[in-house]
Amino acid sequence: MIVTTKAILDKVKEGKYAVGAFNTVNLETTMAILDAAAELSSPVIIQVTEKTMDYAGGRSIFHLVRNMAEFYHPHLPVAIHLDHGKSFEIVERSIEIGFSSVMYDGSRHPYVDNARVTAKVVEYARANGGVSVQGELGNVPYLSEVHGVVDWDKYMTDPDEAERFVMETGIDTLAVAIGNAHGFAAERPEPDYDRLSRIADKVHIPLVLHGASDWEDGKAEEVIRRGISCFNIDTAIKLAFVGEVTRAIEAGDKTDIRSILEPARNAVKETVKRKILLFGCNGKA
Ligand code: 13P
Ligand code: ZN
Repeated sequence: MIVTTKAILDKVKEGKYAVGAFNTVNLETTMAILDAAAELSSPVIIQVTEKTMDYAGGRSIFHLVRNMAEFYHPHLPVAIHLDHGKSFEIVERSIEIGFSSVMYDGSRHPYVDNARVTAKVVEYARANGGVSVQGELGNVPYLSEVHGVVDWDKYMTDPDEAERFVMETGIDTLAVAIGNAHGFAAERPEPDYDRLSRIADKVHIPLVLHGASDWEDGKAEEVIRRGISCFNIDTAIKLAFVGEVTRAIEAGDKTDIRSILEPARNAVKETVKRKILLFGCNGKA
């Protein structure tokens, strides 16, 4: 059952758990994410980036996810989300294709520009089927851009500004920066937990943590307790997939694509299941 992210996350916010938003790029990762969620009876957000839309075709990847979800798991709540849309045009295109949820990421632009375009995206999404919108304030950096001593303050979400941003734009969910970074091993050594609590006090919509592949060992539980409703997971999926493809090729069969991709699909499924159990959304579908 295709639903909006808002439908999934508003329900999550009432409970003491979170859900995962998992990046897909192809049939194998889509099947793995859906099978993991269905086995553990968890609502799930499946997301694609602009780069994936260029790679797979926006329409084909969308319909692949939708067909698999509707045909094999008709009762599972699944949101199909555009991750990190960087322009109004890509949001427009995604909504036209049928995405139930979009992110407009204007976090690299000055506040006024980010707020202006995000508000325009919200207006457009409301007028076109009530698609959910995620905005980002502060900035979640990428592994490739954080080296040596990082000045984390320049990335962080300001709680007062976040309150204003949510009011001015009307977004459904907000991506926050509290020391998180995309990719492995670039995070601020200790997340700014107090900042998250201050944001959650002022912002009453679901909060999303990007760059969450390596948020384990108590960190995930702590931020759920303080108001995170959704974790974005990409790198952990890529590593699981590529690791198994490499192993399968090294182990022997170099021609049967299926025997190379099947273990990779299984590894992604196990990774997604581990995350679902960590976030506590099993049994919440
Ligand atoms: P990771 O690659 O660190 O898991 O981050 C994923 C993400 O934020 C996708 O938007
Ligand atoms: Zn992200």
